[in-house]
Amino acid sequence: MAPTILLTGKNGQIGAELCRLLPTLGNLVSFGRHELDLSKPDSIRDAVRHLRPQLIVNAAAYTQVDQAEKEEPAAYAVNAEAPALLAEEAGKLGAVLVHYSTDYVFDGSKNSPYDEADSPNPLNAYGRTKLAGEQAIRASGVAHLIFRTSWVYSPRGRNFLLTILRLSTERDELRVVSDQRGAPTSSREIAAATLRVLASLAARGWQPDSFSAVAGTYHMTAAGETSWHQFAEAILEERSRVSSDVPWLAAATGNLPLLTRRVVPISTAEYPTPARRPAYSVLSNARLQQTFGFQLPHWRDQLHSIFLPS
Ligand SMILES: NC(=O)c1ccc[n+]([C@@H]2O[C@H](COP(=O)([O-])OP(=O)(O)OC[C@H]3O[C@@H](n4cnc5c(N)ncnc54)[C@H](OP(=O)(O)O)[C@@H]3O)[C@@H](O)[C@H]2O)c1
Repeated sequence: MAPTILLTGKNGQIGAELCRLLPTLGNLVSFGRHELDLSKPDSIRDAVRHLRPQLIVNAAAYTQVDQAEKEEPAAYAVNAEAPALLAEEAGKLGAVLVHYSTDYVFDGSKNSPYDEADSPNPLNAYGRTKLAGEQAIRASGVAHLIFRTSWVYSPRGRNFLLTILRLSTERDELRVVSDQRGAPTSSREIAAATLRVLASLAARGWQPDSFSAVAGTYHMTAAGETSWHQFAEAILEERSRVSSDVPWLAAATGNLPLLTRRVVPISTAEYPTPARRPAYSVLSNARLQQTFGFQLPHWRDQLHSIFLPS
């Protein structure tokens, strides 16, 4: 029988893409913040107990990295306490919990890709709250998959891609940090990879027992690595190549012409932000590859794909 799937964060970058894909797996019931506020424990309990899903996919999170420095308790409620409660409720039902986490659980002191066994040491409040969410899920004993991803962008929401496109219509020169390295990952690819993993597990049913061999934490990011500066240059390169109509791009630029002539590399010290960020947060996807037999496309190919007419 098709599983009932409870999805949170349906209006987010990853959640919106999951909304399109998850119905192929089961009966999807998706919630935005207004239908299910993760900062309200009772609304979480009510939703899960009422729906009795076999699968819960938690794509909601407090994702404002700088703002979290000022309101860590609010971030903690959504990123740590809510996942803990979802895990507890899922455990009681014998449901599987899928959750997303971040490269910002690491401090960036490595200079080769982080794997799942590396010790986290977040530099900022957001990373601390996300790590606490991961730990609570593991401690609950629920059958779970935690996908750590990074530098997420999409044609919707708030992200670096849309910021650069907007600024490219306003400024002759952009100054972008070149000493932080990571892997920009499209929310479409994260949703597609999530579906691929879940489809391979669907064959085994949603029973926690049959799930235990593959349960755990996986890094799920684009292949390759880059800096914010190189990513910005690549965005503008794609923008200047687009010949046909791409509706989201027209909305992002307001149909205004490209003004930016130069993208100047700057250091993190020249662009101070409230939250410290890791200088290096590339994640190894070897475990995903070994367990499920695939990896996500290279970041440059992902970026190119998003500019193709859909
Ligand atoms: N964005 C990144 O660069 C990045 C990097 C690494 C990992 N991740 C992780 O990937 C996952 C998905 O992130 P995303 O990029 O898709 O984030 P996003 O676009 O910011 O979406 C998050 C969604 O969560 C919702 N939300 C926030 N507070 C809520 C609350 N109290 N109750 C219910 N819903 C609430 C938001 O609702 P509103 O639309 O109403 O605000 C939003 O739709 C998160 O776990 C995030 O930590 C993201």
